Amino acid sequence: MNRRFLAALGGAVLALSLAACSGEGAGGGSSTGDKKPSSLTIAVSMPTQTSERWIADGNAVKQKLQAKGYKVDLQYANDDIPTQSQQVDQMITQGADVLIIAAIDGTALSSQLQAAADAKIPVISYDRLIRDSKNVDFYVSFDNYKVGVAQGTALLVGLGLLNKDGSKGSAKGPFNIELFAGSLDDNNTRYFFNGAMDTLKPFLTDGTLVVKSRQTKLEQVATLRWQQETAQKRMEDLLTSSYNDGTKVNGVLSPYDGISRGIITALQNAGYGPAANPLPPVTGQDAEIASVKLINDGVQNSTVFKDTRLLAEQAVTAAEAFLQDKEPTANDTETYDNGVKVVPSYLLPVETVYKDNIKQALIDSGYYTEAQVASGQVK
Ligand code: BGC
Repeated sequence: MNRRFLAALGGAVLALSLAACSGEGAGGGSSTGDKKPSSLTIAVSMPTQTSERWIADGNAVKQKLQAKGYKVDLQYANDDIPTQSQQVDQMITQGADVLIIAAIDGTALSSQLQAAADAKIPVISYDRLIRDSKNVDFYVSFDNYKVGVAQGTALLVGLGLLNKDGSKGSAKGPFNIELFAGSLDDNNTRYFFNGAMDTLKPFLTDGTLVVKSRQTKLEQVATLRWQQETAQKRMEDLLTSSYNDGTKVNGVLSPYDGISRGIITALQNAGYGPAANPLPPVTGQDAEIASVKLINDGVQNSTVFKDTRLLAEQAVTAAEAFLQDKEPTANDTETYDNGVKVVPSYLLPVETVYKDNIKQALIDSGYYTEAQVASGQVK
């Protein structure tokens, strides 16, 4: 046998083994298009069950996929990065056909995503963009910058500086406010904070709003893992350090309902609440039932409603497109650069909920029942 023949033989063996890998390996790769849904598994990795929104997301995605006949492997990672990495590793080795991932830390899954790409498993980044990897195939989320604008606007409305229709309100200020942001490892955090700060900026510049603690940088106001207790502690510290001279906090920018409840508890423990010393407006996000009740009771000012049913629907639509060897339809191909590439995205709109539109936004749409809003519990 001459050298050329051997080289050709080697090439053929390599080609054959590559073909075998891409055809029947984990994920089944390229040929899912002609398989029955019941033979396909969609793996869904969610960050935590401590926040109601992710439970709602997980349930909605699972239900919609199962209704179409797919098998679903839904896992929660307890807000622990190694747990999520391990769960995703396992989903890949167990042969998932599509991965839907809401990351805890947006930068921590690069090697898992490489393994997914090697096994030809499409990856859909769910609500939180996975960063620093070329192997993110699609992103489904809300317009996260607009969430921040909505939060900043709600704070201005709560203070009476703006009316709900956007016109100038009758209040004059100056008002003392404090700022809170989400977890720095979540790509959304910057979008929320920038949207809110761009909205508040003119009022900060002309002195209508004053951040009395002077903590205005994202790094100073961030809340690791979006934890309620961490936010409560920071609000307590702010009250001690910056408001022990009798001045009052007049408003608080909060990026998420759990954080809002921590802030409100700290304020209540410090004597805010009675008519003579009212609670300042505190914003929020996610329309978690406990916060919707607080809004209904006049305790929390507002929240930003993101309909998890619609997000789940988009994730399912994208997953099905990949399974049929098609590209999902994006409505934004510019905004979400993950550090390596711009990820094609489908972004959904959001709605601010105050006490007076709870019924229209949340009850009439079937998201909650009146009884749930009144009790503050989903069960
Ligand atoms: C989500 C928010 C949520 C937050 C905390 C963010 O990535 O977009 O809806 O409030 O995480 O869970």
